[in-house]
Amino acid sequence: MRNTGNHLQIYVNQRSVAYTDVGPLDKPVILFLHGFPLDRTLWDRQVEALLTTHRVIAYDIRGHGGSDIGSEPVSIRTFANDLIDFMGELKLDDIILCGLSMGGYIALDARCRFPKRFKALILCDTQCSADTPESKDNRIRTMDRLSEDGLEAYTEESLANLFAEASFNTHPEDVEQVRNMIRNTTILSLKLSMRALSDRSDACESLREIDVPTLIIVGSEDKITPPAKAEIMHERISGSELIVIDGAGHLPNLESTDDFNTHLIRFVSSFN
Ligand code: MLT
Repeated sequence: MRNTGNHLQIYVNQRSVAYTDVGPLDKPVILFLHGFPLDRTLWDRQVEALLTTHRVIAYDIRGHGGSDIGSEPVSIRTFANDLIDFMGELKLDDIILCGLSMGGYIALDARCRFPKRFKALILCDTQCSADTPESKDNRIRTMDRLSEDGLEAYTEESLANLFAEASFNTHPEDVEQVRNMIRNTTILSLKLSMRALSDRSDACESLREIDVPTLIIVGSEDKITPPAKAEIMHERISGSELIVIDGAGHLPNLESTDDFNTHLIRFVSSFN
């Protein structure tokens, strides 16, 4: 029997996963993957907007929100395998997959290895390139600072990168929500996930194999994965659509919800 609601928990490979599963069972499924170091509540406004027309699922990636970290080291591949295992538990197939940033890295890895499981992709504020040597060094420095200066300093540094500067004045409640998501992540999980991000493989060549409808969205002020990164994916994914959301940073679904949802709803409506 299917459980529905916003506060669900399931054991997948003996590891507890917190998730949301709402909307009619007979409607197309859209599954949301959040970015690092956030949780599934990032998608609350998109869940709300789609729950009458779609079955909407969002889960907390391993070590984030209410999901256990497990005991082994993690990689983007581990996270993608978790997605496939989670889909197996819930008997999900042929779904629309929407991932933001790290969620996009996971989506690309899963789609490349299991192309038949996904009928459409939404790639938000993400990229196909691997970390450069310079960005790997930056991550190592960030991990060192996290150990030396602690979680509070790390949280404020992350917020400055995640949001467009103007959003600190226009969306203080969103900044506060994201601040709490980061604060609720353990240092162990932050470090393990940063290592996974840093070690991820380049996925740019595999994009040419994508043959399903793909919507690419990016905030014009995104400092982590700027519009140029979205353009690289757009060029490689045949028939893809690229939307740049003016004034938003790395989290356009929060910073420009109306704009973001307009494009999201238009895109996913074609699968009803
Ligand atoms: C994210 O938002 O998921 C991360 O910032 C991605 C990254 O650092 O590469």
